[in-house]
Amino acid sequence: MPNHTTDVVVIDAVRTAFGRAGEKGIFWNTRAEDLCIPLLRALISRTPGLSPDMVEDSIWGVTNQIGEQGGTIGRMIPILAEWGWEIPGCSIDRMCASGLTAIGFSTSHIACGMADCLLAGGVEHMGHLPMGYMRDSHPRAEELLGGPSAFNMGMTAENIHDRFPEFTKEMADKYALQSQQKAAEAIVAGKMDDMIVPVEVERADGTKMTADKDQHPRPETTLEGLAKLKTPFREQGGRVTAGNASGLNDGAAVTLLMSREAAEQSGFRPSMRWVATAVAGVDPTIMGTAPVPATEKVLAKAGLTMEDMDIIEINEAFAVQALYFLDRMGLKHDDPRVNKWGGAIAYGHPLAASGPRLVAFMKGLFAENPDARYGLTTMCVGRGQGYSVIWENLRYSQV
Ligand SMILES: CC(C)(COP(=O)(O)OP(=O)(O)OC[C@H]1O[C@@H](n2cnc3c(N)ncnc32)[C@H](O)[C@@H]1OP(=O)(O)O)[C@@H](O)C(=O)NCCC(=O)NCCS
Repeated sequence: MPNHTTDVVVIDAVRTAFGRAGEKGIFWNTRAEDLCIPLLRALISRTPGLSPDMVEDSIWGVTNQIGEQGGTIGRMIPILAEWGWEIPGCSIDRMCASGLTAIGFSTSHIACGMADCLLAGGVEHMGHLPMGYMRDSHPRAEELLGGPSAFNMGMTAENIHDRFPEFTKEMADKYALQSQQKAAEAIVAGKMDDMIVPVEVERADGTKMTADKDQHPRPETTLEGLAKLKTPFREQGGRVTAGNASGLNDGAAVTLLMSREAAEQSGFRPSMRWVATAVAGVDPTIMGTAPVPATEKVLAKAGLTMEDMDIIEINEAFAVQALYFLDRMGLKHDDPRVNKWGGAIAYGHPLAASGPRLVAFMKGLFAENPDARYGLTTMCVGRGQGYSVIWENLRYSQV
């Protein structure tokens, strides 16, 4: 087990509902910053005794740092929430794992005694700032990344199907259906209610509404329906579809992290403890395989095995990428420990918001499973990276 100077604990993790990117999306008329402000207000109201002056930094993941997401949004969020000028802030980009990296940098910051209380979140408005918008890659980047497909995440998923043909389209569709079914069940059972902070928004037609429900899940999904979908990343012989991929979404999520000592002194009841983090790099043209080496590394750091992981939250960028992970880590495709409430194929994947969203899921799953001790959060990342974190349930009690 790594020897941290200080234990780092999660006090809370909340998120907005995830909207569909584009004019039909619930957040089309809402700015990225305005997704984050209600989250800060919710943290205060949900944690009696918490006040803005306790927060020492505001560290936010955001992939596309231009327009409304530029100008160091991490600094702007507490200012716009009227928490004052005293809370500094910064923005971090590791593409899909930007928010999880904000959490990673924050946990290590606290662990080595540099801070006691941090906000670590992620936000992405893919409707206003689409993936790759205004990117200007170095002329040598394509060659050194392994070819043009490295820039298109859907193509990297097709590449995994090519290189590992044991993962078929039928398997990907079956996995996607499972994700939708688990999400539908979780939503009906109210599992999202505690973590979603309502946001007051104006629709494209000018009417007002409270956005408090995820817009992306398709509970009506069937295998027959999935089989008929187009394969937008390959004209011929493609296997990746809108149904077995994560979506294009708008959303935000944030965690409140503290040193265990400061949390206890403040009378807060932390839900989980950070154990270890690891990042790995792989061939960018098959970026979705990277959670495997990242997880192998984090398990080695923690001195734990996959058997010790009672809850496994993998970001489903693409079904084939999740299948590859499960297979290589020796798990069945329907292992009940994995994405128990469904994953990004159903809820969507507003890039930087997805890491903290996975942590919010972990918190919820730990709370209702006191017999679960360790949990793994893992994500693949564009340009060929994987990011894995292990958590410990502080409500764990051996039964
Ligand atoms: C795959 C992708 C291109 C699809 O985008 P899109 O075409 O805007 O997706 P839509 O939601 O409009 O779905 C397309 C069609 O599939 C249908 N569809 C989607 N999911 C479905 C499901 N589960 N069951 C049945 N039909 C479904 C939609 O109804 C739509 O049908 P229509 O064209 O008749 O209206 C896009 O979601 C994508 O790029 N995903 C990957 C994002 C990514 O790379 N993230 C980073 C990961 S590392």
